[in-house]
Amino acid sequence: MKIKNLISIFIAALFLLACSSEAPDTSATPTAKSLYERIGGKEKVKAIVEDIWNNHAKNPIVKDRFAGSDPSYVKKRVFEIFAVATGATDVEYKGMDMKAAHKGMNINEMEFNAVVDDVLAACEMHKMAQQEQNEVLAILWSVRKDIVNSHIITDTLVN
Ligand code: HEM
Repeated sequence: MKIKNLISIFIAALFLLACSSEAPDTSATPTAKSLYERIGGKEKVKAIVEDIWNNHAKNPIVKDRFAGSDPSYVKKRVFEIFAVATGATDVEYKGMDMKAAHKGMNINEMEFNAVVDDVLAACEMHKMAQQEQNEVLAILWSVRKDIVNSHIITDTLVN
């Protein structure tokens, strides 16, 4: 084989290699759905928040905490934070951050767990799949440190 032919083959091989390593065409690849979308979006999350509120009102561990609250105000804020935390792009959270919202309330572990139970019970009532419930639980757990006054626990252990 002539050297010229060898060079042509080499150049052709390089060209093919360059083409195959180009970025893949992602236009046909479906984008991953947010947790918000997988849960069912606005109407579903609104219905879940309604039941979170109803569960709190019946829960002896936390019901007194919300006795003086305006239900429509709290539900609005909880809807917004639930939506934004699960990936909604068309909702804005207009409330305080979790530390400021619960400052000075001396919320303990038992109350925090009771609220988490109420949220998950509401999710269950709306037949949310286990995977999505786990993701909701992880989000709730991530704000625990801003809500629970851990000094209460520490003091109880020490004394
Ligand atoms: C588990 C995670 C929790 C989340 C994501 C959460 C979320 C919120 C949000 C978004 C607000 C409204 C903030 C604002 O006014 O700007 C709020 C207020 C409040 N939260 Fe929580 N909360 C959690 C846990 C708890 C717990 C464990 C308690 C106590 C049992 C509690 C008691 C309250 C009370 C009393 C208010 C004030 C309601 C009012 O304005 O009348 N929260 N919370």
